[in-house]
Amino acid sequence: MNILVIGSGGREHAMCWKLKQSPMVNALYCAPGNGGTAAEAINVELDTGDHEAVVRFCAEKEITLVAVGPELPLSRGIADDLEKAGVKVFGPSYAAARLESSKIFAKELMGSNGIPTAAFRIFEDFEKAEEYIRAQGAPIVVKAFGLAAGKGVVVADDVEEAVRAAREMLVDEKFGSAGQKIIVEEFLTGEEASILVVTDGENILPLVSSQDHKRAGEGDTGPNTGGMGAYSPAPVVDEKLFGDVIENIVKPTIKAMREEEKPYKGVLYVGIMITDEGPKVLEYNVRFGDPETQVILTRLKSDLAELMKAAAEGDISGVKAEWDDDEYVCVVLASGGYPGSYEKGKEISGIREAEKEGALVFHAGTALRDGRLVSSGGRVLNVVGKGRGIKEAVENTYRAAGKIHFDGMYYRKDIAHRAVARTAA
Ligand code: AMP
Ligand code: GLY
Repeated sequence: MNILVIGSGGREHAMCWKLKQSPMVNALYCAPGNGGTAAEAINVELDTGDHEAVVRFCAEKEITLVAVGPELPLSRGIADDLEKAGVKVFGPSYAAARLESSKIFAKELMGSNGIPTAAFRIFEDFEKAEEYIRAQGAPIVVKAFGLAAGKGVVVADDVEEAVRAAREMLVDEKFGSAGQKIIVEEFLTGEEASILVVTDGENILPLVSSQDHKRAGEGDTGPNTGGMGAYSPAPVVDEKLFGDVIENIVKPTIKAMREEEKPYKGVLYVGIMITDEGPKVLEYNVRFGDPETQVILTRLKSDLAELMKAAAEGDISGVKAEWDDDEYVCVVLASGGYPGSYEKGKEISGIREAEKEGALVFHAGTALRDGRLVSSGGRVLNVVGKGRGIKEAVENTYRAAGKIHFDGMYYRKDIAHRAVARTAA
């Protein structure tokens, strides 16, 4: 079968790397891809916002399965348009993608199906939002209802910060239409984890647990980023908790989507906070996590193409997933200044040496310029290492990361610190 992967980050490089190993796959394409996917797939310059062009490309190359990496194409209905043309898609329809593209849809679905999440109120009117925020007090969380590239969430330590965020969204239209409505939400405390499952709309195949680090700085401080690292498994998610999340969160979500006639297929990512009252949903994503995917797919021993095809065709009941028992760590090498402004075009060296240390190096923001590999984004490379136990996995990953260099490069030195502390204790 011929497969097209849509996207251009480390997640898509990991997807291509894994798909390429499948005996089921003939030709593998990635649109637009990056400097790393070029080694696994044929990169294609395709405007993935132009669904007709994608349909034409699939017909021309006899592509029968499209695996969508990021949420944006899904939220624009790429799955619907491809399926109308007879191409199967790993990823939900426009209607089902609203679990991520509308935080209000997600919150209301949770509310009416008893799925645990932070208490919330929805506002369109700034004055009413301000009044509510002042009455509730801080800490408190303010979220834009639509897609805002991960930047539409403000966890405010004081009331003024929350009011400012609400004003920026509702009055100043900082996020455009994505901020026309906001959710003001109860602040939850606990440890976060990511639970991903593959589903055909009815059957559920849980993937291994993972945890990412969203903050730019060590000790999980500083501004939010797309993710500075991840590890799998997340030891905070023991068997009981995992079962609890599947039974009380994942299953009711998939069932509710079916009942609302928005059957969900593809991968569902549930971001949870493990509170004293049990796990609560922070967010749904309708796609693989980045960088969680880099530690999940590397642990997967089974055939990803088979799994994706089965989900896209609507029956995963015959598919099983086998996992490597080792622990995996991913460290993101970023451009100096990220997530603020940063320079691009820095020449990258040392990838071979890192690979000689046993690590996998996925590209997130790289490009080939005159035959040289240069940085082309904020998150540049993802170094993935493994070990028997989290401590060894961390050591192996950082030893490999230390071999890589580009001007201004920085990375967090404490990825998986919670897992290390938990294991030591
Ligand atoms: P979201 O995109 O909704 O997952 O929010 C991004 C990040 O903000 C999450 O990963 C959490 O770290 C934090 N966050 C979101 N909602 C809450 C909440 N209700 N309480 C505490 N932290 C939150
Ligand atoms: N790592 C967080 C996300 O993919 O949304």
